[in-house]
Amino acid sequence: NLIALIAVIVIAGFTAGCSGDKSILDPAGQAARDVTLIWWIMLSFSAVVLIVVTVLWLYAFKPREVTRTAAQERGIARRWIIGGGIVLPVASITALLAFGVPAGQRMLPLGEPAEVIEVIGHQWWFEVRYPNAEGGEVVTANHLVMPVGEPVDFNVSGADVIHGFWIPRLGGKIDMIPGRVNRIRLEADIPAVFGAQCAELCGVGHAHMHLHVESLPREEYDAWLGARQDEQLSALATADADQEEVRDAFRTHCASCHQVAGVSSGNIGPDLSDIGSRATLGAGVMVMEEGAVSQWLKHHQTLKPGNRMPSHGDMDTDTLDALGAWLETLSP
Ligand code: CUA
Repeated sequence: NLIALIAVIVIAGFTAGCSGDKSILDPAGQAARDVTLIWWIMLSFSAVVLIVVTVLWLYAFKPREVTRTAAQERGIARRWIIGGGIVLPVASITALLAFGVPAGQRMLPLGEPAEVIEVIGHQWWFEVRYPNAEGGEVVTANHLVMPVGEPVDFNVSGADVIHGFWIPRLGGKIDMIPGRVNRIRLEADIPAVFGAQCAELCGVGHAHMHLHVESLPREEYDAWLGARQDEQLSALATADADQEEVRDAFRTHCASCHQVAGVSSGNIGPDLSDIGSRATLGAGVMVMEEGAVSQWLKHHQTLKPGNRMPSHGDMDTDTLDALGAWLETLSP
């Protein structure tokens, strides 16, 4: 019947956000657990307040004889104002502060130095840098790998407008502001893949600005970084002598914006030196699979309307296919 249907819709609505790779209700780190706990407390408390107010409101409709004097009525009103309007809000806000300030403190990069990962928001993709990688800085895009079970300090900023750095299952959320570095300390408890999303309206591509986050055990993380040192990436990009024609096409059409270690050094668009190893293309709009890069090159304005890459109408299909196939081999 109708009541059952409404109940199902309400419960489905409440639980729809409880799982998935971007759910704050499925925390995978201490910072996220703090946020989730306070969310549940506030939801429960608000529900109680809603019920109490509704009951009082309905009660007010009940017809009854007026037996109290005006002075008594004023006394009752004063008690409600002091209790419900002053004492209750002060007590609940104090309790929230007592919980929230230490929780916020834990997300500050204080105490022992931790692993540092820099994330820079661009319209509409994420640049990810590992400044302290052994052997030299590692740079990638839209694919963030972090060690599991240890604090990581994310130094975030923006290249053009304000973007938002947010990995819901790990907690926090911090603005990425041009000309300023904001820092947040997060930790992943489990090796997993997490979704992240730009959380600040930043233009036409805002909804298409995802970040693929993966937490790996320390050894795998170190190996991942080690495989992305410049020499290795250069060797990978130039390994196949037969691909010289494709590399020339890349130098002509792509090199002023994109870096491929050993081939080009453009720094306007994402670094493509390890693009073949990424989970997605276009900051999450396509799954990386065979032929995906070529599809992206041909249809990127349909797949991600408004993105800043010019169209490649001046290249024929065969060249685009060859470029796509070559880029897909760039997988350390
Ligand atoms: Cu970047 Cu929204």
